[in-house]
Amino acid sequence: MCGIIGYVGYQNTVPVLIKGLERLEYRGYDSAGIACVDQKKGGLCLIKEKGKLGVLKEKLGDFTIEAHIGIGHTRWATHGEPSRANAHPHVDATGKIALVHNGIIENYAAIKSALQKKKVRFLSQTDTEVGVNLIGSYYRKSHKLFDAVKRAVVELHGFFAFVLFSKDDPDTLIAYKRSNPLVIGLGRGENFVASDVTALLPYTRQVIYLEDEDLAVITAKEISIYSLKTRSWIKRQATTVHWDVAQAQKQGFPHFMLKEMYEQPEVLKSILSKRIQKNGEIFFDTLDRKFLKRLRKIKRVSMISCGTAYHAGLVGSIAVEQYPRLPCNTQVSSEFRYGNPILDSKDLVVLITQSGETADTLAALREAKAKGAATLAVVNVVGSTIAREADAVIYTYAGPEIGVASTKAYMAQLATLLLLAFYMARGRKTIQAVELRALLREFKKMPEHCAKVLKEIKRFERCAQKHYTRRNFLYLGRGCNYPTALEGALKLKEISYAHAHGYAAGEMKHGPIALIDHEQPVICIAPDSLTYDKMISNIQEIRARDGIVIAIGTEGRKDLEKMSDDFFAIPKVPEILSPLLTVIPLQFLAYKIAVLNGRDVDQPRNLAKSVTVE
Ligand code: AGP
Repeated sequence: MCGIIGYVGYQNTVPVLIKGLERLEYRGYDSAGIACVDQKKGGLCLIKEKGKLGVLKEKLGDFTIEAHIGIGHTRWATHGEPSRANAHPHVDATGKIALVHNGIIENYAAIKSALQKKKVRFLSQTDTEVGVNLIGSYYRKSHKLFDAVKRAVVELHGFFAFVLFSKDDPDTLIAYKRSNPLVIGLGRGENFVASDVTALLPYTRQVIYLEDEDLAVITAKEISIYSLKTRSWIKRQATTVHWDVAQAQKQGFPHFMLKEMYEQPEVLKSILSKRIQKNGEIFFDTLDRKFLKRLRKIKRVSMISCGTAYHAGLVGSIAVEQYPRLPCNTQVSSEFRYGNPILDSKDLVVLITQSGETADTLAALREAKAKGAATLAVVNVVGSTIAREADAVIYTYAGPEIGVASTKAYMAQLATLLLLAFYMARGRKTIQAVELRALLREFKKMPEHCAKVLKEIKRFERCAQKHYTRRNFLYLGRGCNYPTALEGALKLKEISYAHAHGYAAGEMKHGPIALIDHEQPVICIAPDSLTYDKMISNIQEIRARDGIVIAIGTEGRKDLEKMSDDFFAIPKVPEILSPLLTVIPLQFLAYKIAVLNGRDVDQPRNLAKSVTVE
């Protein structure tokens, strides 16, 4: 997710671009840049820097630019690590066209090699630079930017939004939308375009939301929109925005955490579209031949991480033992790093981390490397320290996660680790092709199931209202939902400050059952599974002691619903995929209880988004 802004009008464009980027920085912050046509010096001016927007602002202090058209970008890296070369805007090889981009061009590699055969030189590793050079190749023939974009986007696969201009026509911005958001701001003698309304609010509340396949031509006085869907010029209705900036950054949600919970179906959809190819094979673009060769010799796996990422590692570990049939050890990084682990070159150590900067996990990585193990980072932040130091990396593509309590990044870790296990099983031939195809068919339905659960989640609000004043909660699960119990308990602890404990349900009789009385809520994660009947027995033991049963189960399980004080149903899915759904009601329950207790949900006390100290 990146931040895009474009301006054309009577004002000097640089301050407008910077102010817009300041409001878009929450969408990505590893590098930033602007491009404009300098009225005095003439020509295209391009200034971009690695790091947060402040670094760019400092650099701009050295320039006096008089410009009335320009584009700006704040980046969340997906292709190519954070650097000045990879920062946007990108310019085509002729130096005439500047472009900013939000999204992913999936077939960039093939287009890049075709352009390189035509002697086009590339300065970055980004898919964006491929996009602007494809447009440039058509522009050189027609000298009409609108026509060049119209031809190029037909060849590009993926989801993206572009804003661009040519120095040959310094009065016109072109904007194109496919799946990723773009909104036009209407001014007097000026017009704007941005990723979302946040950047427009200082100047206008009159906006036009572009729709997929809209190609807009924007001047200071006029907006014309062409639809590639209907192949005709169309009219889009302007609307008035009533949000303030904070609301706009959360796209109308009260908290980033809730917004990110609702982004989970899109995150899953994006991961599956990148990782499962048209021929049904699983594909990790960042694993090179050398690492894959090493992967084939692995005899043992370790999943090492902290907090929520540790819970994802527990699910990943179950999948690695169940599918590629490799022994898999899972540990928290802080224990692993001091445990003098027994490792050699036949070991694969997987470091799971949203931020890629967690101190304990970084130390664990270095310990594993020192012992000769193959190290694989499963990371959300592109170019982060752990991503760069591991032997190989798989990015989880969850986009920036602003809420301290991890939700969509956890979902992305689960999906990525499950796909990795299935991929390894395919390579080791421990799964039949027909079985894998069936499993991936079910996997592809998960975004829709996830969206359905979120659509119905408000039904769980009543449960939060009944119990938000309680100070002790117990979470129980079995198999791949024992980690879900741990994750649900962590979510509640870290944002509501209530005490919550996740336990393997089979451990009830070995202690926790002493907690059960009429005051004790017990969240039981009991989807259809091999151990479903055992979960039912545990729930009966809780009922027999007047415990309060809050159950997450599979649709249609009337027996379970009857024995629960509160019941939330999820669609029927293969057991190994169920953690992708069972966690959602637990995220929501924690969120609601925290809000009812007036907590600072996005920045809970004592916590940080990335724990870069021991
Ligand atoms: C999750 O909600 C917590 N904020 C925390 O446990 C987090 O998962 C942990 O600190 C690990 O962070 P990382 O994934 O960035 O390494």
